[in-house]
Order: sequence, then C-alpha cells, then structure tokens
Amino acid sequence: MQEILRKLEAMREAARQGGGERRVTAQHAKGKLTARERIDLLLDERSFEEWDMFVEHRCSDFGMDENVVSGDGVVTGYGTVNGRLVFVFSQDFTVFGGSLSEAHAEKICKIMDQAMKVGAPVIGLNDSGGARIQEGIASLGGYAEVFQRNVLSSGVIPQVSMIMGPCAGGAVYSPAMTDFIFMVKDSSYMFVTGPEVVKTVTHEEVTHEELGGAVTHSTRSGVADGAFENDAEALLMLRRFIDFLPSNNREKPPVRSTEDPEDRVEPSLDSIVPGNPNKAYDIKELILKVVDEEDFFELQADHAENIVIGFARMRGSTVGIVANQPMVLAGCLDIKSAIKAARFVRFCDCFNIPIVTFVDVPGFLPGTAQEYGGIIKHGAKLLYAYAEATVPKVTVITRKAYGGAYDVMSSKHLRGDVNFAWPSAEIAVMGPKGAVEIIFRQDLEDEEKIARLTEEYRSKFANPFIAGHRGYIDDVIQPSTTRQRICRSLAMLAGKKLENPWRKHGNLPL
Ligand code: HXC
Repeated sequence: MQEILRKLEAMREAARQGGGERRVTAQHAKGKLTARERIDLLLDERSFEEWDMFVEHRCSDFGMDENVVSGDGVVTGYGTVNGRLVFVFSQDFTVFGGSLSEAHAEKICKIMDQAMKVGAPVIGLNDSGGARIQEGIASLGGYAEVFQRNVLSSGVIPQVSMIMGPCAGGAVYSPAMTDFIFMVKDSSYMFVTGPEVVKTVTHEEVTHEELGGAVTHSTRSGVADGAFENDAEALLMLRRFIDFLPSNNREKPPVRSTEDPEDRVEPSLDSIVPGNPNKAYDIKELILKVVDEEDFFELQADHAENIVIGFARMRGSTVGIVANQPMVLAGCLDIKSAIKAARFVRFCDCFNIPIVTFVDVPGFLPGTAQEYGGIIKHGAKLLYAYAEATVPKVTVITRKAYGGAYDVMSSKHLRGDVNFAWPSAEIAVMGPKGAVEIIFRQDLEDEEKIARLTEEYRSKFANPFIAGHRGYIDDVIQPSTTRQRICRSLAMLAGKKLENPWRKHGNLPL
C-alpha cells in the first residue's frame, strides 16, 4: 500500500509540474501565472477538487507517443468562490502551448456536463495555442463538442471566459458563446485570423495587440466585457463578479446582507439634472448613489459608452442596471449601444435578475453610418429583449424619453412593472425644437416665432404629466427618494410570475 501511495504522489507531482520548470519560468517571464496558480487565486482556499489529473492524449504521430504529460494541458475540476460552487477549466500553456487535443476537450466537456447536472457556473481560463496541430481533425471534433455544450448551457448556467493568453482561430467561438468575456491586458489576444494572414489577404499591417488585444476588444469591438491589468487583478475581479450571479436559471440571485438602508434618501439627486436640457450629467453618479453601498460592477465600460450596463445590488440582491449616459452622444441609442444593452437584458432575463433602467434618451442616433449599418435591426434587438423579458422591470425616467427610444427603454407598454419619472422628465414624441421645426416648417425664417412656439411646446409636452395622465408612468417621484422607491418596487415584485407563450424559441432580429 505504501508503495502505491508513493507512486500516486509521484504521479500527482509529475502532473503538477505541467510542462516543466523551463516552460513555467517562461510563462512567469511573460507576466503570466500558471494554470494552477490561477485556480488557486480564483477559488476559495483549499476548495479545489481536481478531476482527470491523469488523463493523457492518445496521439502517436510526430513523436507524440514519446511526449506525454499528465493532464494534457488543461486543469479541470470544481471548487467554491465565496462558498458558492463553480466548475472551472484552466488551460496550461506550458503543456503543448495549452493546445486542445481530443482528450483535453473531453476533460472540459466532462466538467461542463457535470455543471449542467448540478446547476453551477462554468468558468474558463483560456490560454491556448488552439487546435493541437499533431492531432488534426480529432482536435476540431473536440472543439465542436465544447461548442455544442456552450450552446445547450446558454441560459441554464452562467458561463464566463477569462482570456489570459492566446485564443485564435475557431477557438474564439467557445468564449464568444459564453455569457461574459474578460481579458488581461498585454498578455491575451483573440482573433479569427492572426496578423500574418491579415497581411497576406488585406495587406494591412497590424500587431497582435492592435488586432485582438484586451484594449481593442474592450473598446472598439465590444467582444470583451472588461480588461484587467494582470492575472492577479483579473482573477480577484472575477471572484467579485461571480458573487453577483445566480448559480443557474432556476435560482434567484444571491442575497448579501447590507448595512445600506433601503429608505436612504440622497438629497444630492434633487439637483443632479441640470436646468438646461442640453447640459449633460454623469448617469454613473446617479447609479452609485442609488445602489447598495455604491457597489457597481460595470461591464463594457469603455465600449458604447452612451449606454451603461452592469450589476449592482438593491436590498442585498443582484439587479441589472441599464442606463442611458447623457455625457456621451447625449445618451442617444445607436447600433453598438443597442447590441450591448440587449445582450445584457437577455442575460438578466435568463437568470432571474431584475432590471432597473434609468432613462435619459433623446432618440436614436441619426445618420447614414447608422442606417447603412443596420440600426433598424440592431435597435430592434434592445426593443425585443426588453419586450421579451419577464423578470421584474423598474424604470426611472430622469429627463428625456423621446420617440421610439421612449418605447424601447423598458416602457410601460413593454411590460415595465413600475415606471417612475422625475419631475424633470420630458416624455414626448421628440424634443421641442425638432417638433416645432417640423410642424411650423413654413415659419422657419421667423426666429422669434419659432423660439416662442418651441417654448410653448416645451411647457406643454416636455414634462412627465401627460404620460402620467395616461398611466404610462406610475408616479412622479422626488429624485432624492429614488433608492427607496426602487427598493419598495423590487420588494413588491419579488413574487412576480409572468410567462411568455410557449414556442420553440423566438426569432430575435440578429
Ligand atoms: C501543438 C503547440 C500549439 C498547437 C503552440 N504549441 N501551439 N503545440 N499545437 N496549436 C506548442 C509549441 O510547439 C511550443 O512547444 C509551445 O506550445 C509554446 O509555443 P511557442 O510558439 O514557443 O510560444 P509563443 O512564442 O508564446 O507563441 C504562442 C503561439 C504560437 C502564438 C500560440 O505557438 C502559435 O502560433 N501556435 C500555433 C497556433 C495555431 O496555428 N494553432 C492552430 C490554429 S487552428 P515547446 O515544446 O517548444 O514548448 C485552430 C482551429 C480551431 O485552432 C478550430 C476550432 C473550430
């Protein structure tokens, strides 16, 4: 027995060495942690239960039968984050560059299947050179097995990807189908085809970082939901992030006790909206003042900044926040912001997370770039997402709610449960100036008359009361009491039951 135990420990130790000291040193020299160090930081201390440590690849071509490493380039298993169960796979770049073999894929699939059975999130720490070149088609099959599971898990358990090294070619599509993608600056990249192929095909010269680095994807493309400075920060933020998510689609979001009183009044909100309707204010200031303990986990903070999305807590329980940002493009909706918010609303709806929407939107962004880019279809995504959502929906119109954008932003007509307006709200078909310029087009030369009519339109329509008369909003509230009113609404909505008609699935305007 002693002999067997000694052998077992030797085998474990060999597996823990990964690709060996030289490659571990090279990994550290790049500022990256190893697969196991990452798991140690991500999970609660000593909570990790590793599976399949002894799995080996089955390839014998190209001398691979002589080159076998226990675990085959991915560490898999489960553990806890602040006491809550998660499944995790962490690709080990020190073993065949973290490349995905048939056996490597089977390990990932095994934990994905188990996570579905018990209803717990799957976290992928990606650091891989892609398909195991020596295995060819078997590796492609492995990817497809993972993809299929990504799709069947979607909306059932949360799936989160942290890109911590290369992720290229078809390999990008597994993270792309997970709910959230985070990246590490300077050491991770994602692209469908790399700089060399790009140069050959389009003659563009571009670096890895420019083409698919963390900054590119968290600002330009919107592929990544956040970018972190280094591995340690990324993993600690991931822990914080996981705390907001329910474990599966049948659970309510987690509740954390809070010292922040539900009825906290915030007097500064009474003066946050400037008197001049053309002046901006920072909607994030409002969000921080309303949510529990000023704790807001913003997603895609540097992409489509005209809309703000992220998780916070109210009454200790997770809520999804969606808010127009008057500081950027005056808070207009455009293609990028509609896509950004639509996917977030759909995530919240999948996972029983109430949605709190703050509205200050002058409309959809006009222009050929938007029309040619398909704003009609992309804007419809957000409309569709809100209309489809059956979770509790609380809406606060702080200022402008014009035109179609009024309808889109969780209006009463899209089954908004509680719709408040601040006294500064302007709920109308369009802004006073635009309206007068259309109705009185023949008088445009007469500046005085236009100014007078604009003022008349403003005082008649640019207020919350016409919508109030029709019951389109439930109450006009004092801004300083916003937190209290939202908390009460959420408490009232805790038992909400609403189902959409049976169907295989809807046909979201993609
Ligand atoms: C097998 C691989 C590998 C791969 C890297 N390695 N990628 N082994 N299959 N795909 C091995 C290397 O041989 C090397 O082994 C070690 O990992 C580290 O690689 P380096 O090149 O030394 O590291 P670095 O300079 O950091 O470059 C990393 C890299 C590069 C950019 C990822 O290795 C690279 O370009 N790899 C090939 C990428 C690729 O073309 N993959 C297939 C794409 S097709 P030693 O023994 O020296 O340590 C694909 C299809 C997926 O993925 C389709 C899904 C539908």
